[in-house]
Amino acid sequence: MTAHRFQPSRPLTGRIRVPGDKSISHRSLMFGALAVGRSRISGLLEGEDVLATAAALRAMGARIERDGDDWIVDGVGIGGLLQPEQALDMGNSGTSTRLLMGLVASHGITAAFTGDASLSKRPMGRVIDPLSTMGASFTPSPGGTLPLMMEGMQPAVPIEYRLPVASAQVKSAVLLAGLNTPGTTTVIEPVPTRDHTERMLRGFGVAVTVEEIDGEKHISVTGPVDMTPCDIVVPGDPSSAAFFAVAASVVPGSDLVIENVGLNPTRNGIFRVLGQMGASIDYLDEREVGGEPVADLRVRHAALKGIEVDPDIAPSMIDEFPVLFVAAALAEGTTVTTGLEELRVKESDRLSAMAAALTLAGASVEETPDGLTIHGSGGALLPGGGPVTTHLDHRIAMSMAVAGLASSAGVAVDSTEPIATSFPNFMALLAEAAA
Ligand code: S3P
Repeated sequence: MTAHRFQPSRPLTGRIRVPGDKSISHRSLMFGALAVGRSRISGLLEGEDVLATAAALRAMGARIERDGDDWIVDGVGIGGLLQPEQALDMGNSGTSTRLLMGLVASHGITAAFTGDASLSKRPMGRVIDPLSTMGASFTPSPGGTLPLMMEGMQPAVPIEYRLPVASAQVKSAVLLAGLNTPGTTTVIEPVPTRDHTERMLRGFGVAVTVEEIDGEKHISVTGPVDMTPCDIVVPGDPSSAAFFAVAASVVPGSDLVIENVGLNPTRNGIFRVLGQMGASIDYLDEREVGGEPVADLRVRHAALKGIEVDPDIAPSMIDEFPVLFVAAALAEGTTVTTGLEELRVKESDRLSAMAAALTLAGASVEETPDGLTIHGSGGALLPGGGPVTTHLDHRIAMSMAVAGLASSAGVAVDSTEPIATSFPNFMALLAEAAA
């Protein structure tokens, strides 16, 4: 493990560009693999999670290669996935696992899924349940986790499924299974989650319908579909940009432009909440990239105030709470978050991991069953300390890196390796912005 101490930082300035969106990158590869013909992807995130998706799709017959700065995918067509010869190693990636399980579920193939220690603790019952109803069969490890073996069903049975948890991964798994299922598969979404699957499937020629009934979204696909190849431009990942937006907000003197940030309304909650806390964020050159709203964000240091975060905004910033907690630890007053049970089943239990890490760095934090209450420093640097434990969780590592920048003694993290799952050049960009 590579430990690292993130030291108090000079102001963050200049212009940086964060890598491609992780959710969109996974889906670009998967949908390209299901089309007949060649798709070209530019701006693909080359993080370990996305590379795990690529390797699994290759093992099931797709051709995926880098071509200069782009990636090309030659798909096998819906129904054409081949039986993988070896277990599919999902590494740390829940998105790869759950979405690919959806694909396998309606193909007549058997696949084994394995992952690292973090992924092997995460609940898979949430996808096993609906996919079993569609006809797939599963032999998971005790507790419904990886390693697991599954057998798809062809033809699978269409279902109407109301999501019991607000999860884009579960929604996507069921819709992806529906692509090769004769008849109409419908997911009912009481609380909106990221909609990249719906948007992007349309780009690949699939008629996805979305109906709003009694405040719930009914999202349907009628299979088996034909998918046409598509050229995709992946916008910058708002989840990665969030670390720099908070860093520039809390490090005095900062004035940083983060270019090409995806601002899909189902993803941009962190910037809205930072705005409510008093952050200075200007949206420059608002435009569309690859069917997604995008802007360059100019973020200047500002005095932040603690707030009560509306739990309804949580799905649109579900991965950004760790770094929001850092912003709260440096704000004036108290920040209260609730409704965040889902954070306990991410790459780590992010409520307990962040409570422990921030406390070790000298912040004042109370953990509740569904959130954290944080009493901010009022803009004073955190004392610092550590080493904090990252639990194989990239977002804990990067969040505590940001805390280190606004501390007196620096914050040591036990391992920076997990950062490569989603943001391989994080350290380099940090050095560049602080130079
Ligand atoms: C993702 C959905 C979210 C998010 C994850 C990516 C996706 O997970 O946390 O990082 O690409 O669909 P859940 O569906 O578990 O909320």
